Amino acid sequence: MTGRPTSTPTVGIMGVGYMGIASALAFSHRGRRVFAYDVNPRVRASLRSGRSPYREEGLQELLQSEGRRGRFVVVDTVGELAESARCIFLCLPTPAGRGGRIHLAPLRAGARELGRALREVRGYRLVVVKSTVVPGTTESLVEPILRRASGKGPESLGVASNPEFLSEGRMVQDALYPERIVVGANDGRCFRMLAAVYRGFPAATRELSPSEAELVKYASNTFLALKVSFANEISRWTEALGGNVDDVVGALGADRRIGPSFLKAGPGFGGSCFEKDLRAFVGRAAQLGIRARAAEATLAINREQTDHVSDLISRTAGPLRGKSVAVLGVAFKAGTDDVRESRAFPIVEGLVHAGARVRVHDPAALANFRREWERRSGTTARSVKFSRSVVDCLRGADLAVLQAEWPEYLDWPARWSEAMRTPLVVDLRRALSPSAREGTGLRVVSLGVGRDGRRATLTPPKAATPRRP
Ligand code: UGA
Repeated sequence: MTGRPTSTPTVGIMGVGYMGIASALAFSHRGRRVFAYDVNPRVRASLRSGRSPYREEGLQELLQSEGRRGRFVVVDTVGELAESARCIFLCLPTPAGRGGRIHLAPLRAGARELGRALREVRGYRLVVVKSTVVPGTTESLVEPILRRASGKGPESLGVASNPEFLSEGRMVQDALYPERIVVGANDGRCFRMLAAVYRGFPAATRELSPSEAELVKYASNTFLALKVSFANEISRWTEALGGNVDDVVGALGADRRIGPSFLKAGPGFGGSCFEKDLRAFVGRAAQLGIRARAAEATLAINREQTDHVSDLISRTAGPLRGKSVAVLGVAFKAGTDDVRESRAFPIVEGLVHAGARVRVHDPAALANFRREWERRSGTTARSVKFSRSVVDCLRGADLAVLQAEWPEYLDWPARWSEAMRTPLVVDLRRALSPSAREGTGLRVVSLGVGRDGRRATLTPPKAATPRRP
């Protein structure tokens, strides 16, 4: 970044959810003094006592080590936050709202409250939107609210955008070692302050306008989700022709222009971000008179993948009425207790609807799944049992469905097969290796693998007489 160096600013975090806490601790780890505020007193109390309110790899340890260093401070009011921190990040939730739009009420209210608190503050402050917001939101919504509530102009209040790219299960690593830092602002002072805040982070910074920075976030998630949907589409080819989707996308991703990541076919993407962000992206595009066809197709393929999974299960197990089915892994992906938009919901719903008795297991997400399932399903709640152990889940089952690739499931011992009435698994992630199955009597049908792994015999096109060059 260019320009005059700025003394290290104190950092403020408003909203201590997963993203807020990971960012706060990463700034503290890099030597910044961080002040954090959350509206929920339980979250504040938990942070003060050194207990992470969220389950996330490495978070508890980092909270304790940063707590000992004394650079991470929890404050009780927005006023204290505005007074103590010079660069304040809005990390407030932007959940899915009506008609695919994002629900902006928490961000609006937070910006208003912070703006009012800033009215009393002397000296320059920078407010940075880290929440995921559709392109244009920082300038057209957040900035006007802040200016109105604070009565401050650009000479004493800067407003910028700085989207996050943290992935659940590896949020701490992603926050400490980002691959890129994307900042959007309209003046040099904001860029200089953000450069000082991010000093020491091992990543290059991209300086853009606020709406460009916001667009990078949506473009990133759309592109990643597109890769997943593309791999899922290819998995239908390998199923139809015979072959293994992993072999095909492995060769595909070996081309550096394409890259190997996010090409793992599975039950479709879940999680709190992809579906929500793509829907909001499509909606925002329509407002601007753009047709977001790539995002639309990505969502459509994802929906179809759920139907495809149901077909695969029925084709494998035959009529499901009265059968006992075990679903292993109900988190939206392995390594997290988060069940938001997990494909396990439509899969279990489909099984219950077809008359199966369903048992589910997950090493971390069972309680969250149960709570959400009971909230959604009301009367059908009794048709699903929640098992504390894998063996309990598999006992007497006619079929197991591996939905999330937890390491706990991959060393399949013989006694698991013995516990089942029929040792048959539909492996939606191709996670059970042939060696894990050896000697266990288990039959595995994998998504994306042509029947019995056999290659289809392709009828060669009626060959024209070969021509010599
Ligand atoms: C995603 C992005 O990866 C982050 O960069 C972004 O910051 C975050 O959304 C966000 O916007 O907050 P996350 O939702 O935690 O992170 O999870 P991912 O690891 O991206 O997985 C999303 C879904 O895609 C999961 O259901 C996963 O099983 C599925 N997936 C992912 C596949 O089916 N195949 C793949 O190859 C990769």
